[in-house]
Amino acid sequence: MPHINFPFLGNSLVMALVIVTHVFFAFVAVGGVFLAFTGEWIGYRKNSAFHDRFAKGYINFLSDMMKINGVLGVTFVVLLIGLFPEFTSKLYNIFFWPLFLEAVLFLVMMASTALYGGTWDNPNKGRHIFIGGVAAASGIAAALVINAAWSFMLTPGTYFQDPRLMNAVFNPSFAASSTHVLLPCLINSAMFGYIYAFIKLRKAPAADAGYYSWMLDYCGTIFAVAILLQPLSGLSYLFTLKYINLAVFDSIVKGPVAKFFWPMASLATIAVACSAVYLLSRKTKRKVLLAGGLAALTAFSFGAYTRERARKPYLIYGHMYMTGALVAAPKKAGIAAAETKAAAEVKTPAKQAPKPEPVKTAAAKSAPVKPSASKHDVEVELEARGCLVCHTYNGEGGTFGPNLEKPLQLHTKEELKNILRNPAATMPPFDGTDKELADFVDALKL
Ligand code: HEC
Repeated sequence: MPHINFPFLGNSLVMALVIVTHVFFAFVAVGGVFLAFTGEWIGYRKNSAFHDRFAKGYINFLSDMMKINGVLGVTFVVLLIGLFPEFTSKLYNIFFWPLFLEAVLFLVMMASTALYGGTWDNPNKGRHIFIGGVAAASGIAAALVINAAWSFMLTPGTYFQDPRLMNAVFNPSFAASSTHVLLPCLINSAMFGYIYAFIKLRKAPAADAGYYSWMLDYCGTIFAVAILLQPLSGLSYLFTLKYINLAVFDSIVKGPVAKFFWPMASLATIAVACSAVYLLSRKTKRKVLLAGGLAALTAFSFGAYTRERARKPYLIYGHMYMTGALVAAPKKAGIAAAETKAAAEVKTPAKQAPKPEPVKTAAAKSAPVKPSASKHDVEVELEARGCLVCHTYNGEGGTFGPNLEKPLQLHTKEELKNILRNPAATMPPFDGTDKELADFVDALKL
């Protein structure tokens, strides 16, 4: 299947932008519905008008935001199908029922949130709070289902040896990663409320100042406490990964993903420090917490990148590459060597004999050597074939495979064809016709 490349941005970046934005607002939605439901409940039990006003205000904001974020969610799925077709069909094949359930949960959440916001003056408070509870629970459940698929991509566990759905859903990092995404739902939504109240309070008429000041403290406390807990869930997730797959752990803390991980950890440390100062100052240091909130929101994007990049060069770790190609089944060392040798003996003559190279005339050979391709052209070819996901060339690309500058010079065209057809187990074989392979290899030689 020919692959579509998103112009200017490239497939990975455009996906990253849509995912991070969508996930950010999805977290605000899941956490916000929970804040509204608990706010109304506490307000009812304590007879507090502020709690009730906060809950109602938050839910009205969310009903509008969810519509926009729903469109982003659909955009995400459309991009996934168009840009990563093999992966999408694989994932839907494995996770069909959970993702179907997720769609149902999402509908329940949208409908109950609309009902919840629209019937605030329902005299039966108990029933109204119950609807809020349904909305909050379905949001959390939907987040858990999505996270099952997301965590599976990094730690597929025993699924490919024993393909049962439960092995995929309850994969080795499911529990640890779930806590690590549920707390940010609370963090993001409380910080949103905090920033909102902070701005409102500055211009609020005297009658409203009391409410916004209360809302600031309420959201500030929830945010600060959740931020203090988040490093614990982060460390538990990180060390779960270390236990499952040391290579992933190493790439996060000292490999190519470190440039996302350490900024996230540093920003999180700032957020933790600000939260501690805020709580110890008895909520008087409001600007400090605002700074902590901004640090936390930035840490969120670095965290999302850390989680995405930790998987490279795979889409499903150890099973499918970023290019959509499947990883060759592992062979036993002895057999593999013998097979490769036998394959080379059988294939080489058969391949060469009936297909002589297109006759290069003497004229063509003796013509003054003009550079037919530039390094940039080769880079474009490699990029288009997905090679730069793993290899570096001309200063661009990944570090999973060796730098290709020397190998492309040293190997003959025949050798390159052979490498591309029968690569090591860590590299996907070329998926194209012999003609395409020949053209591709021609384009690689400067
Ligand atoms: C999923 C990662 C990945 C992708 C995608 C990939 N490679 Fe590789 N490639 C590797 C790895 C890893 C090695 C080293 C294998 C070994 O020898 O153990 C390698 C080895 C090579 C070599 C041999 C290097 C040498 O020193 O002899 C060449 C040539 C090569 N790749 C070219 C390509 C080209 C061209 C593409 C795109 C069509 C490509 N690779 C796509 C991972 C990848």
